[in-house]
Amino acid sequence: MAAQVLNGTMVAALIKERVAARVSELAARGIKPGLAAVLVGDNPASKVYVGSKVKTCEALGLYSEEHVLPGDTTTEQLLALVEELNQRDTIDGILVQLPLPPQIETRRILEAVTPAKDVDGFHAINVGRLVRGEEGLFPCTPAGVMEMLDHYQIPLAGAHAVVVGRSDIVGKPMAMMLLHRHATVTICHSRTRDLPAMAREADILIAAIGRTAMITGDYVREGAVVVDVGMNSATTEAEIRQIFPESEWPKRLETLRKKGSTLVGDVEPRTVIEKAAWLTPVPGGVGPLTIAMLMQNTLRAAEMRRA
Ligand code: GUN
Repeated sequence: MAAQVLNGTMVAALIKERVAARVSELAARGIKPGLAAVLVGDNPASKVYVGSKVKTCEALGLYSEEHVLPGDTTTEQLLALVEELNQRDTIDGILVQLPLPPQIETRRILEAVTPAKDVDGFHAINVGRLVRGEEGLFPCTPAGVMEMLDHYQIPLAGAHAVVVGRSDIVGKPMAMMLLHRHATVTICHSRTRDLPAMAREADILIAAIGRTAMITGDYVREGAVVVDVGMNSATTEAEIRQIFPESEWPKRLETLRKKGSTLVGDVEPRTVIEKAAWLTPVPGGVGPLTIAMLMQNTLRAAEMRRA
């Protein structure tokens, strides 16, 4: 039987409704949560992400501002901007879009954002709070995945969750969040021996490696829940026919013709759909949840700091 769809767009809409309702309550008290998004250079993907973050703020009634700095900005210049945003009372959340250009010391920038405004949850203080199971601001993508698993009432306690990928942004915080909910967690990565066999042990499989359609049906146990965090692109017709089930070909080929590429995750839907009980689509799975959780984090930061 084909996998059922974990509809991220729908769950994200519910989260955004909740945020918008609370934002209007705060508005009645003269408080408008504010997000500052900082973009350095002109990475096209980053521009798209930052643009949709700012647009979503506007839609939900949050204040937002976008700071676009030239690609040759120095660490000191970026630190000066972060410091100014730290001081400003109308800014509740500060987001520095990654990756930063190579001349910038990313770690110094992330540690400069005051933890109370760190809506990405990248500061060491917030990472530490997550590990300890304390209150804090936590990374949006794994937090969004948790919201989705809860929405669909996927049982976590005692389940075996396998996280493929060990990034600071997704893999590590994802593993910690699942662990706090009493899942048995395995973290796999590019050096894991017999990755397909490990992945097949999963009741819940989180694919966050950043490799186009790497997770095929061979990695998935019958009846598993599969969450695809990948954001890659396919650029040829042959890839599309390999990766997607035939029913998706017309739509995907149309997108390829119009845009030159189509969005693909780390999962190969054609083969995984046949095995998994649940699967997130790409697009329309984890992506919209990340933005919804950024809005929720900005709201929370405002409530913690000013309400
Ligand atoms: N680059 C890729 N993912 C993210 C994210 O969640 N936040 C930021 N700031 N940059 C990213």
